[in-house]
Formats: sequence, structure tokens, C-alpha cells
Amino acid sequence: MWGPPGGEKRRILSGMRPTARLHLGNLEGALRLWTELQHEQECFFLIADWHALTTGYQHTDRHRALVREMALDWLAAGLDPKASVIFVQSDVPAHAELALLLSMITPVPWLERSVTYKEWLSEPEVARAAGLGLLGYPVLQAADILLYRATEVPVGKDQSQHIEMTRDIAGRFNHLFGEVFPEPEARHSEHPILPGTDGRKMSATQGNAIYLGDPAGVIERKVSSMFTDPAKVYKGDKGHPERCPVFALHGCYTRARLAEIRDGCSSGALGCVECKTELAGAVVAGLAPFRRRREALAADPGALEDILEDGARKARGVSEETLARVRDAMGLWPRAT
Ligand code: TRP
Repeated sequence: MWGPPGGEKRRILSGMRPTARLHLGNLEGALRLWTELQHEQECFFLIADWHALTTGYQHTDRHRALVREMALDWLAAGLDPKASVIFVQSDVPAHAELALLLSMITPVPWLERSVTYKEWLSEPEVARAAGLGLLGYPVLQAADILLYRATEVPVGKDQSQHIEMTRDIAGRFNHLFGEVFPEPEARHSEHPILPGTDGRKMSATQGNAIYLGDPAGVIERKVSSMFTDPAKVYKGDKGHPERCPVFALHGCYTRARLAEIRDGCSSGALGCVECKTELAGAVVAGLAPFRRRREALAADPGALEDILEDGARKARGVSEETLARVRDAMGLWPRAT
């Protein structure tokens, strides 16, 4: 037995698929937590570009650009390459090898039970194109996590089943071949889930997202079109801030004036137009440092490449070591070095 719970240091791994630009929900939900964790524990963050192919292999023309954009967003949001290992999944071939080996021991019915898989199949366009890679998505994700013997995976609640499956696959491997993998836990952010402009959870696929890269004018337009408490039609009407997505965003961006905004809304003194104008200004101001850092990073493409190359080198070191243990535990042919 090695690795936690055997005394080895706790290790964190998480990732995102580079399929869309990042929005405020990603920033407040995932990235804030990641940037906090990186100073507490050893962290690995991967851009899951192979996972992006599971539903999008027909459209790879923007693949490289999306990987690059994601790396820029992460760094601008505060992920620090000195504190964390930041890398691109396809830059570390061990992910493919471990996914292949784990695919041998993962029962197909486990994969067919995945809620995410069923959701994807309910979309006709995805269902028509679905390949083996889509069914095997959780196996590749398990490989991502287990290669680094990660003990905690900070992700959104929608990922819980994938982490559960990673534990099941790790358990099955350990049972068959001896203890190699710690069973990782999902760790959810304490930060509240942000609503989008229509009041539902902010999501790139819902068309309700405010993107980190949106120019000020776009942010103003999106905020001014936001849903509000339907009971508050005219300025003098009493509102219910706890039901209003505009107020929820104030909770992140206008913290210092939150009590006044709440009172103004519930008493009817504050109208929705004014309230939205203030929010748009606060979001634009809140994103300004992010935007400045992103512009500086984007102006130096060589620096970004160096960061990702360095991350991949570190990731290869850890992952190759794990793979050697895996091959050994399984009794496979030793690889010439
Ligand atoms: N499936 C995750 C998502 O859609 C992305 C991901 C890929 C991931 N590999 C991972 C998350 C490993 C955590 C750990 O968001």
C-alpha cells in the first residue's frame, strides 16, 4: 500500500474541457477554489483536450485556439505555474496508456449508467456521432486522476458521478492487482452557483453566460437584459432580492454595498434599471485585473508555451512513475528504458 491513505502527501487534480470560453460561473465556481487550493497543496490542472474530442471530433479547426484560450483564462484568473502544474492532457501520452489499461477492467454497464452519457445521447446530433471515446469518457477521466494518485478532485456537482466511477475503477484495479491507487474524493466549491442572465445556472450551452472576455459594452447589454424578480414590475414595487439573479451576481461583485441593495430592492426605493446599471459597472470593474493580466499574457505567446511545456514535463515525470507501477502490478512486459 502506498499513497494516501498511507501517509503520502495529499494531492489535487482537476481539469476542464476546452470547448468554450470561460464565463463568470467557471470563475466563481471552479477557478476561485483552484487558486486557493494551489497554495495549500500540490496541485495538477489539466486542459482535457482529448475529452473535448468525445463530442466534438468533427470540428477541430478551433482546437488549438481553444486550448490556448483556456490556458490564458486560467493564468489570468490566478493559477500560478510556480505553485501548480498546468498542462495539456494530450501532451502527456501516459493518459492514453492508462486509459487503455483501465478500459480492460471497466465493465461496460458501469459506463452505460453514466447520467452524463445518457444526457449526451438524448441530443440527436451527439447521439448520431457518438463514438467509443464518448462511452469511455469516464475511463479517460479516471486515468487523468489516478495517474497523479490524486486524493481530491475539486469539481462541480455535475462531475460527482465521474469521480464516483474513478473510485470504483481504482477499487477494482486495487482488488485485482494490489493497492496502487488511492480512491479520490470530489471536493465541491463553497462558492455559490451563479445564475445566468435567465436565472438558470450559468452555462455556455444555455446561452445565458457572461464571458470573462466579453467587452464592457457586451456585459452592459447582457446585464440590462437579465431576468429579475417578476413581482417587481415598477420601480416602487417591493422586490424579493433572494429570488433575483441580478442580486445573486451583486453578491459576488458588489459585496460592500450588498445590504443597501437588498434593502433598496425590498423597500421599492431601488429600481431594477438602476440596480442593473450598478451591477454592470461592478462586473466590468471586477474583471478589469483579469483582463489586464490576460492581455499581458496574450502578448507573449512564447511565455505561455514555456509554461505549458514545463507543466507537461513535470506531469510526465509523475505519470510515468505511476504507469511503471501499474505495469508492474499487472505483471506486464517491462518496458526498456
Ligand atoms: N469532465 C470534466 C468536465 O467536463 C473535465 C475533466 C477531464 C476532469 N478530466 C478531468 C475534471 C479530471 C476533473 C478531473 O468538467
